[in-house]
Amino acid sequence: MAQYNLNINGKSLKVDVDTNTPMLWVLRDHLDMVGTKFGCGIAQCGACTIHLDGNAVRSCQLPVSAVEDAKITTIEGLSENGDHPVQQAWMEHDVPQCGYCQAGQIMTAAALLQQNPSPSDEEIENAMNGNICRCGTYLRIKAAVKTASQ
Ligand code: FES
Repeated sequence: MAQYNLNINGKSLKVDVDTNTPMLWVLRDHLDMVGTKFGCGIAQCGACTIHLDGNAVRSCQLPVSAVEDAKITTIEGLSENGDHPVQQAWMEHDVPQCGYCQAGQIMTAAALLQQNPSPSDEEIENAMNGNICRCGTYLRIKAAVKTASQ
């Protein structure tokens, strides 16, 4: 066990955890931030996506020891009141079905638009490609990213 000082959603937070603990479980089990979801645990589905210094990363394979100096953003910190343009577009297009993967989808989309505010269809597809949705909401996801990018 070791103590880590983390910068999450603009707050400085301390946790006592094993060095190899993935950030997914630090968030969910130690900080009670359960918006970030566990899907596969092997960096294949994208349900656990968070931002690390503005980049979309998979928290299930990201040890706490690797993020101490980074600025971390989770779905809880993306906006104050769900008013991030991506969240607004998600509501406008009624994107979620079961909803389980959607926090990860939104975090990936938000990172894309932060880095590329007007992505082409192909760039949207490439960026969102690794986020799996078992309900198959892909067309609505793409439409919402397009709306948020305009
Ligand atoms: Fe991390 Fe699937 S739970 S990528």
